[in-house]
Amino acid sequence: MNQPALEGLRLNTPAYVTHARLIEWVAEMAALTEASEVYWCNGSEQEYQRLTEQLVAAGTLMKLNPELRPRSFLARSDPSDVARVEDRTFICSARKEDAGPTNNWVAPAEMRELLQTGPNALFKGAMRGRTMYVVPFSMGPLGSHIAHIGVELTDSPYVAVSMRTMTRMGRGALDVLGSHGEFVPCVHTVGAPLEPGQADVAWPCNKTKYIVHYPETREIWSYGSGYGGNALLGKKCFALRIASTMGRDQGWLAEHMLILGVTNPQGRKYHVAAAFPSACGKTNFSMLVPPEGYEGWKVTTIGDDIAWIKPHADGRLYAINPEAGYFGVAPGTNYHTNPNCMDSLKSDVIFTNVALTDDGDVWWEGMTEEPPAHLVDWQGRDWTPAIAKANAVDGKPRPAAHPNARFTVAATNNPVLDPQWDDPDGVAIDAFIFGGRRSTTVPLVTEARNWSEGIYMAATMGSETTAAAAGAQGVVRRDPFAMLPFAGYNMADYFQHWLDLGAKMQATGATLPRIYCVNWFRKGADGKFVWPGYGENMRVLDWMIRRIEGHAGGADNVFGISPRYEDLRWDGLAFTREQYASVIGIDRAAWQQELKLHAELFQQLAHHLPPELPATKARIEERLAA
Ligand code: OXD
Ligand code: MN
Repeated sequence: MNQPALEGLRLNTPAYVTHARLIEWVAEMAALTEASEVYWCNGSEQEYQRLTEQLVAAGTLMKLNPELRPRSFLARSDPSDVARVEDRTFICSARKEDAGPTNNWVAPAEMRELLQTGPNALFKGAMRGRTMYVVPFSMGPLGSHIAHIGVELTDSPYVAVSMRTMTRMGRGALDVLGSHGEFVPCVHTVGAPLEPGQADVAWPCNKTKYIVHYPETREIWSYGSGYGGNALLGKKCFALRIASTMGRDQGWLAEHMLILGVTNPQGRKYHVAAAFPSACGKTNFSMLVPPEGYEGWKVTTIGDDIAWIKPHADGRLYAINPEAGYFGVAPGTNYHTNPNCMDSLKSDVIFTNVALTDDGDVWWEGMTEEPPAHLVDWQGRDWTPAIAKANAVDGKPRPAAHPNARFTVAATNNPVLDPQWDDPDGVAIDAFIFGGRRSTTVPLVTEARNWSEGIYMAATMGSETTAAAAGAQGVVRRDPFAMLPFAGYNMADYFQHWLDLGAKMQATGATLPRIYCVNWFRKGADGKFVWPGYGENMRVLDWMIRRIEGHAGGADNVFGISPRYEDLRWDGLAFTREQYASVIGIDRAAWQQELKLHAELFQQLAHHLPPELPATKARIEERLAA
């Protein structure tokens, strides 16, 4: 331990903290980062109040009009720090092949030298002039056998308050941890030490960014960014990248999936877990409002982004949402696309990078059909429709909100929160859904005929990229299981893990959940979406449930089983057979092309690729040729 750096620094450890290894680690990190103070978060309401007031005073948060948006704030990030940085995200497993070809890899010793031990290690002195917040949190209901504990050390009070919303944060988590429990250590710095007398900026960050995971020792180190998944380390870093490796070792699944409950008019309730790449409408689907014709049906949210799923002695898979809040994409959200989400955002929200209205409320593209006449944009500049047009890029007016602008809000704000959302036992999963954003080729819905066909669908999923991650938008990239940026280990081994889990459960006579592939995003010749989506996706959910109950028809195609027009219920929606044909059809030439892309993926993942996958591909090719 660096004693000189600790001199005069009080660790302020509360008496209720009894975990010697935790206390020692906090001391070591305080010494390494030379934090000027240590503060242990207890998760109380008063603490939240105090920290948000402090953030307002520092200019990081702006209080919104309390009459329009009670107890809510707006944060504007640095324009260079607006999304997850996948090219700066590293899986530092001992062996390169365990990270696999889809992850960035650096040898652990080399990365440790860069971050911790080398002469110019980035974390050395990184918190100088700042407080180090100790943020204990539970991913999942406190004490659940599916949940796990993490502790994040961060020099960002914005992160500390956000973690209170996004996780079960504070003293409760430490009580579960006790004096000897396991926790995942997460260290986060914005990488902007303050010299004596140096004034702070509203959104400190560093041009250099590292989001680092050590799977063997289950550690997370994040440097340089204060934004979202780069900084709220419980979410993508722990609940997906580290947890997926825990799941591999312990026989469970950590997935990029929403979880919803759907109850039919007869009162039978089913649970569905659905994987979609970032910004493909996961939050919308998890809060779906059944459309006209579906009176008496209810959809309730358990989670909007991540599922932890464990096999249970009764032969079923049980899932929890490890998170306690939503960090959702704001643009595009409105009373048509997601009324439940809009209602969730009425109070107690932290918005980041949305636009500010003249009366102190928020706005983003798509919130209303007509934009307000004047706004302050996400970078604090005046915005009017005319300014937006004058500053158009590629013919698109300059947006007032950043396309990846977010809201951070507690799950308990959601009016359709499932009564079991906090159940420590989780909910039994009846179906898995995998869906990408594809304007062509992939049908509206297809049921896998067996587990390996379902794994094939999930493994070969592709999607057009969105603003959730930095980089080009709108290009199709393979995104297996919607886990491309989130699998903490070799993707081919990950496929094998899913296959093994299924085989193991089947060997004990378990009935596995059905697997479906969906695509809400097929476009017509006019370039417009054909399927109305949103609440109308209920019709697809309904078909799935009737399939599970054994009383819905379907027709075999090369890929699986899809509903014929007459197999879906159309009451309340005018959607013609021709329109339906254009979202469900399999175009032979497009599929031949598609299979070439599957072959490319399999080539990339050849090392350890389960033979079931090329075998399934060969069967699809045979059917396509027939
Ligand atoms: C998210 C993402 O923020 O997937 O959920 O990027
Ligand atoms: Mn996500």
